[in-house]
Amino acid sequence: KTFFTPISGGSTPSPTKRPTKITVVGVGNVGMAIAQTILTQDLADEITLVDAIENKLRGEVLDLQHAAAFLPRTKIHASVDYADTADSDLCIVTAGARQNPGESRLNLLQRNVALFRHIVPPLAKYSPESIILVVSNPVDVLTYVAWKLSGFPANRVIGSGTNLDSSRFRFLIADHLDVNAQDVQAYIVGEHGDSSVALWSSISVGGVPILSFLKRQQIPYEKETLESIHKEVVQSAYEVIRLKGYTSWAIGYSVASLARSLLRDQRRIHPVSVLAKGLYEIDGGDVFLSLPAQIGLGGVLGVANVHLNDEEAQKLRDSANTILEVQSQLGL
Ligand code: NAI
Ligand code: LAC
Repeated sequence: KTFFTPISGGSTPSPTKRPTKITVVGVGNVGMAIAQTILTQDLADEITLVDAIENKLRGEVLDLQHAAAFLPRTKIHASVDYADTADSDLCIVTAGARQNPGESRLNLLQRNVALFRHIVPPLAKYSPESIILVVSNPVDVLTYVAWKLSGFPANRVIGSGTNLDSSRFRFLIADHLDVNAQDVQAYIVGEHGDSSVALWSSISVGGVPILSFLKRQQIPYEKETLESIHKEVVQSAYEVIRLKGYTSWAIGYSVASLARSLLRDQRRIHPVSVLAKGLYEIDGGDVFLSLPAQIGLGGVLGVANVHLNDEEAQKLRDSANTILEVQSQLGL
């Protein structure tokens, strides 16, 4: 006898919807921070973890499964075989080398492109309708690489980009003004890296444009103060890597916020790495970089036409050229 006795006259319920499935490739610091945030926030019915190190993979899955009593029910699989990623709605790629202290993200390119050549084609083969979300660094160039290797339309290949930088930016502004970071609307755009661009002219706190907010509150600010906050954003990762060896928690929450917007069709606007060619007068080639994009079930639904002043627009084009210069080495 089964544990439950069926009610008389009942019918066998057929599943009403296809289970939502997320694949996470790479179960390192970042992959596991993302996996546990997805579980905690109940963002998938199934999660498949993939890595090259079988024991680590198995250990991480068992460790997560042992938390089942405290989490919403989610089927957790582990595999080194990409066939087990089949029919994923979202494939998140975190596999790859990470920066050593003081090392730039762009320096990781050759090592991680080599990995992507082995990771992306099978993901695309087994989940041809999925969205690929790239996290590995240098994330903008690797999102371009994933787009080329997958053959997917550009709206279904996204990089986590400056969604994380913008969160750091919002934290620093909120801390400076003693307000809640969720009431700070602020975008960092461009490269997820040293050439990122702070869109000061469009930042608002509680719906009030920040520059006029500061003026009205007689809060002294010079251009230097604003620049120093952006500099602190750019230095954030280097500082955390110097102190603890890697970053993980903030990117975990950042990627979970993207997964929620995508899979729950939230149609929210996130600064994420998208194919920017032809937008904001970026015309040097097929380049992925972060712009405020509306995302939902279909992936990127559109890019917001945020007003950039001349200085911001020029910095964005410079950021695009930085990425294109590195990308040109690939011959892809
Ligand atoms: P980690 O070294 O802890 O984990 C990397 C994982 O990738 C390891 O488990 C390794 O076994 C796995 N891996 C290596 N080759 C593989 C292959 N061929 N197939 C499957 N798995 C493979 O590194 P961590 O700290 O998790 O960082 C991972 C990446 O994420 C790095 O490139 C890092 O720069 C990037 N990152 C990106 C952020 C962003 O905002 N875009 C933020 C934080 C990290
Ligand atoms: C970050 C690096 C690792 O945390 O990309 O921003």
